[in-house]
Amino acid sequence: MESKPHVALIGMMGSGKSTVGFWLAQSEGLRFVDLDAAIEERQGRPVSEIFASDGEDRFRDFEQSELAECLASEQPLVVSCGGGAVLRAGNRALLRERAWVCWLRANIDTLSQRVRTGDSRPLLGDDPVADLIQISDARAELYAETAHWVIDVDGLEANQVAEQVRHIRPRQSAAR
Ligand code: S3P
Repeated sequence: MESKPHVALIGMMGSGKSTVGFWLAQSEGLRFVDLDAAIEERQGRPVSEIFASDGEDRFRDFEQSELAECLASEQPLVVSCGGGAVLRAGNRALLRERAWVCWLRANIDTLSQRVRTGDSRPLLGDDPVADLIQISDARAELYAETAHWVIDVDGLEANQVAEQVRHIRPRQSAAR
C-alpha cells in the first residue's frame, strides 16, 4: 500500500482550512503549507490578480503543479488546499494517494460569516451567499469522494477542529 505521509485539509472557502492547518502543524511539529500562499509566492502576485489577468484555468494549472510538488515531498506536511483544488480528477487522486484527507464541512451561514470579512474572493460576486450555495452544492460530491473523513466545523474554533483532526488521524485504519 502507498504510504500517506501528509495530512491535507479540503473544503469550501471560509471553512477554516488555513487556520486549522496552521494549528495542526504547530501541535504536531510538522511543516505547514498553505497552497494559495505557495502559489502567490511562486507567482509573485495575489490569487485575485492571477484570476483577473490569467483566468481561472491558468490558476488551476498553477494550483495543480503546486499541489503535485508539495505532495511529492517525503517530509510529512500539513497542506491546506484552496477550495477548488478538488475540481481536477488528477488532484483528487493524488490527494487520496499521498495524504490523509480531511474535509472541513461548514454550512452556508458559517461560510458566509467568515468570507464577509475575508480578503478578495475571485469566485464571489455581488450576491456572495448565492454564490457560496451554488459552489458548495456543485462541489459536495467531490469533497466527499476525496476525503478520508469529514469534520463538521460549525460552531467550533479552529483549535478545536485541529484537535479533532489530531484525534481522528491515528485511527487511520478506520478511514474509508
Ligand atoms: C477558491 C478558493 C480559494 C482560492 C481561489 C479559488 C475556490 O482558496 O484558491 O480563490 O475555487 O474555492 P480558499 O479556499 O483558501 O479561500
